[in-house]
Formats: sequence, C-alpha cells, structure tokens
Amino acid sequence: MEKNGIEAVKARISIVDVVRRYVDLKPVSGRWMGACPFHQETKPSMSVNDEEGFFYCFGCQASGDVIDFYMRINGLEFREALEQLAAEAGIELGYSAPDPHAAERKARKKLMLDIHDEACAWFKRNLRMETGRIARDYLSRRGIAAEVIDKFGLGYSPDDWHGLDRHFRSKGISQEDSVLAGMLVKNEKGNIYDRFRSRLIFPIQNLSSKVIAFGGRIISEGEPKYLNSSDTPIYKKGDHLYGLNLARPSMTRTRRAILTEGYMDVISLHQFGYTDACGVLGTALTPDQVKRLAGFCSRVDLVFDGDNAGRKAALKSSRMILLQGVACRVLLMPDGEDVDSLLQTHGRDGFEQCAETAPDGLDFCLSTLREKFSPREIMDWAKGFLKDLGDSSLRAYYLPRIANGLGLNEAELRQNAGGAWSAQTTRAKKKPENNEAAQTRPVGKDDKDDKYFISFPIQYPDYIRDLDKKGFERILATNWAKALWEKLKTQQPGADILSRLNDNEKRFYIRCRERLRENMLSGKQLLDEWEHICNKIASGQQRLNRWQLKEALLQAQQAGDSQRIMQCLRALNESLGRDDEQH
Ligand code: UTP
Ligand code: MN
Repeated sequence: MEKNGIEAVKARISIVDVVRRYVDLKPVSGRWMGACPFHQETKPSMSVNDEEGFFYCFGCQASGDVIDFYMRINGLEFREALEQLAAEAGIELGYSAPDPHAAERKARKKLMLDIHDEACAWFKRNLRMETGRIARDYLSRRGIAAEVIDKFGLGYSPDDWHGLDRHFRSKGISQEDSVLAGMLVKNEKGNIYDRFRSRLIFPIQNLSSKVIAFGGRIISEGEPKYLNSSDTPIYKKGDHLYGLNLARPSMTRTRRAILTEGYMDVISLHQFGYTDACGVLGTALTPDQVKRLAGFCSRVDLVFDGDNAGRKAALKSSRMILLQGVACRVLLMPDGEDVDSLLQTHGRDGFEQCAETAPDGLDFCLSTLREKFSPREIMDWAKGFLKDLGDSSLRAYYLPRIANGLGLNEAELRQNAGGAWSAQTTRAKKKPENNEAAQTRPVGKDDKDDKYFISFPIQYPDYIRDLDKKGFERILATNWAKALWEKLKTQQPGADILSRLNDNEKRFYIRCRERLRENMLSGKQLLDEWEHICNKIASGQQRLNRWQLKEALLQAQQAGDSQRIMQCLRALNESLGRDDEQH
C-alpha cells in the first residue's frame, strides 16, 4: 500500500516544481540547475532531473527523489513528508490494509502530541505568572536572555502535586491518557500526581517542532537535578537531540553541529550566537542521533567536561561519529566549567580559545589511547574500529591515519586487523569461485570493481536482460552490488526505481545517472564496453569451471577412478588451452 502511495506521489508531483519553491532554478543545457540549499553555496551546483525524478548536488553530493528533498529542506520525517506531499497531490494514502491498528495508533499519537502541546502552553503560562517568579528569578540569575527563553519555549511547573492534573481535567483530558503521555505518574498505590513539580521546564521538540517530551530542572532543593520524560508512544530516549529543530537551519549553512550534554549549555550557546548547537539529552550519544546529525552537517564539535568522565565520554562519542564518516573535534572545557559557565563568564572569546586548540576526533582518540591504555587494549580498539567501519573506502581513509597515530607500520596494521573484517568484505569463503579470488584480490578492489560493473546496467538499462542471460551476477563480488543488481533486473518497465532503493543505493544510482549525462558513450565505445563486460563474465565462468574440475579431479584421485581422472585432466587441459588462445 505504502509503496503505491510513494509511487503515486512521485508520479503526480514534479520534483522541479517542488525544488523551485526553495531554489531558483535555471535551465542549463537541457537540465535544471540551482544553488544547493544543503550546503553553503551561491554557484548553481545542484542539478534537478525532472524526467527521472531526482536531484543531485555536485558540491556536497546531496541527492534523492522529491520526497527526500522535501524531507530534508523542511526537516521532516519520511512519513510526514510523504503525507504532506500526498495531501498536496490529492492522493489518499491507504494505510489500513497492512496494519489494522495503524489508524488507532495514529490517533493515539495525535492525542499524545495534543497533550504535550497543552502541557507546554500551561508550563509557559506558569512561567509568566506570579507562581513562576521563582523560576524567572532563577533564569535571570543565570543570565538567560528573554529571547532564548521564548525561542526554547521554557516553562515552569509549580510546587504542586496536582496542578497539571487539575488543568488537564478541566480540558477534558483523561488521567489515563495523561499517564500514558508521561505527564502524570501513577504509583503502586494507584495515586496519580504531576511528574514535574517545582521545576524549570525544557520542552523537547522533534524536527517538525512538535513537543514530544520534557526535561525539568529542580529550582530549589531536591533530587534528581534533572528529570526527563520517560519513553512514550511519541518519544524514545536516544532518538532525539535537544534543540535540533532550532539548530537545523544554521547547521545546514555552517555544515557543523556543536554537540553538548546539557540543556543549559545548548541554550547558552544559542544565546551567544552559536545557533548550530544541540544536546544529547541525558544519555550517552547513540548511533541514531549521529545519523540524524549526519544528514545536516559534515563536522561535529563535541563539547565535554575536561575531567576523566568527560574524556571517557568524548572517546566513545568521537569513535561513534568517525565511524559514520563524519568529521569531529573534541572541545574539552577547562577545569570545573561547562560551556554554559564558560560563555557566561568569558563570552565567545573563552569558547573560541577552547575551539582553537581542540584536537581532531581521531587524534584525540589515538592520543587518549596512547596515554591511558595498554598495547593490547590499543590494538583491540584499532581493530574493532576498522572492523566496525561499514564502508571500505572509509577504511582506506582511516587505516594510514590510525597506523601513523599509533606509530605502527601501515601494512602490519592492515595485516593484523585483516582478520577482523575480511570475513564481511571479501567473497564468502564457501563459494568455490571466490576462494581463489579472496586470496588474490586486495581488500577494497572488489568494491571498486563492482562499482564499475554495476554502473553499466544503471546507465544502459537496455542491456539488463542480456546481462542477466549471460550471468552478470557472477562477476559481482560484494553483497551490496548483488542486492542492487537483483533490484535492477526485477524492475518493471515504467515503474519508479528510486523508491525501491535504500539510501546508499539511491545515492549511487543517482550518481551513475548524473555521470551518464556528463559523459554518454558513443555507439562504438558502448559496444567496446559491452564486449569488455561480456569477457569478464566469460572468464569468471571459466575460473569457476576450472575450480570445479580441480575438485572433481581431486575426488577422482582419492577414489582411484582412473577413467574419471583422465576425463577431468582432458577437460582441464581444454579449458586452459582456450584461455591461452584468448590472450
Ligand atoms: P549536569 O549535572 O552537568 O548539569 O548534567 P548542567 O547541564 O550543567 O545543568 P546546570 O547548569 O547545573 O543547570 C548535564 C546534563 O545531564 C543530564 C541533563 O541533560 C543535564 O543537562 N542530567 C543531569 C540528567 O538527565 N539528570 C540529572 O539528574 C543530571
Ligand atoms: Mn551547567
């Protein structure tokens, strides 16, 4: 159902029409070009292809279909973007068929959002009223400006066990729903009361600026210092970043994110003009959060306390960020300060000084390792890091840097760490044709070869059927290429291919199609290329045959079957002879 919805939206809505609302597009030799809104750019670096329904930036490589563009430019989740575009095009997205509870779930989510909205308005009101004086005084003592109080929608929950409870009931919101939303708490005795009391309230918003949770700081005495919403149908710890919706516009401009641990830190950073700052919200950084950031920026400036705990957290966080191919720096705060206190006492200069001396993330990891860890732990870290890198080109990027940083010989590190990742990247051991290949092929070559091979059917889809008949998949070594080939060859004519591809495949596909427009092969070149690939397939087939013959020969020898031995030898000879003729 959803697949149909996506295809219908893309068929009905022109990507050029949508992009035009945000970017000035001009026709340049048969295509639409404009300044890319996803990185700082005034030259027209982004091309929009209406026929094939995608955009591609030659500067920052941002790419995707109309839904991707709409999501990214508006900071929406996929669902939301799809729904808005569908509504625009007058398309009914029939959700009911696959999941009978979907409508119910959707209604419940809507209710949860409404409850948060109502609570947020009430908290904000309290902050302005007499009851909120204590919180206003607190904020002014901490030097928080009125604009940022507004911008972040800060509020106050009074010192009252039933303030919100009463308010909700007056609005016809049931206690049961309020408990589900995490706004009220029900204890073992069945008593129901306000979760947040006597606290300064920080609304946590998603990328569409909908309030989905709260954090609350105690104002006078009490524990814990910060109380956060528990998980609810609309909020999961570790999925969101505090202030990301507010920081996104400047992040896409600076291509940087400042990432810090505290609510107050984020707010102060914004107040002092660092509007690309957001926070991790009371847990350790998660890969999901890094992915969210990676969509908007190329570098993360991690801000941590300079103490031991801070350094440890910085090591873990920078590792996680580097693994996703995003650059980072580690800004360690001076003793006893956090970024909020630093800014409040030393202003931007204090922060800039810290930033100036901040080590690059990988350097920070390596020097921390050298200082604090045993040789065995260091090697385990390096091997683990290289293994966890999903992308072999990133591995090629990091390997020499790690070797260098640890004072190791690059080849030795490669060899030592080799076992850790070869199982995933070289061809599966069991397959006969691969045994040979795994030993002779350097790591990374498979990937490069496959990129070259698979770009051919992407650029010249007319050849897909013939390639399939010839057994094209046999020359593909990597799983990603095989999976992509499977999708290409089962593609229905006229259907939208992009919506069947995952993010990586889509990026690769679009890049291939863009390259094609830059450099279309002439008839003769195309035939040469076709012949070359056919030869590759044929020689792959021969290698496989020979391997099977050798196996058979071995078995025949073990069984002492002289007739079979002769057969195999003859066939082997023949196969080798044919090879000779070819070269
Ligand atoms: P800190 O204790 O360093 O507080 O916790 P802070 O951010 O400097 O706060 P102020 O300046 O005293 O007001 C850092 C972050 O850890 C989370 C919060 O997100 C906090 O901002 N935290 C801390 C909790 O979730 N619960 C706590 O009890 C304490
Ligand atoms: Mn603080």
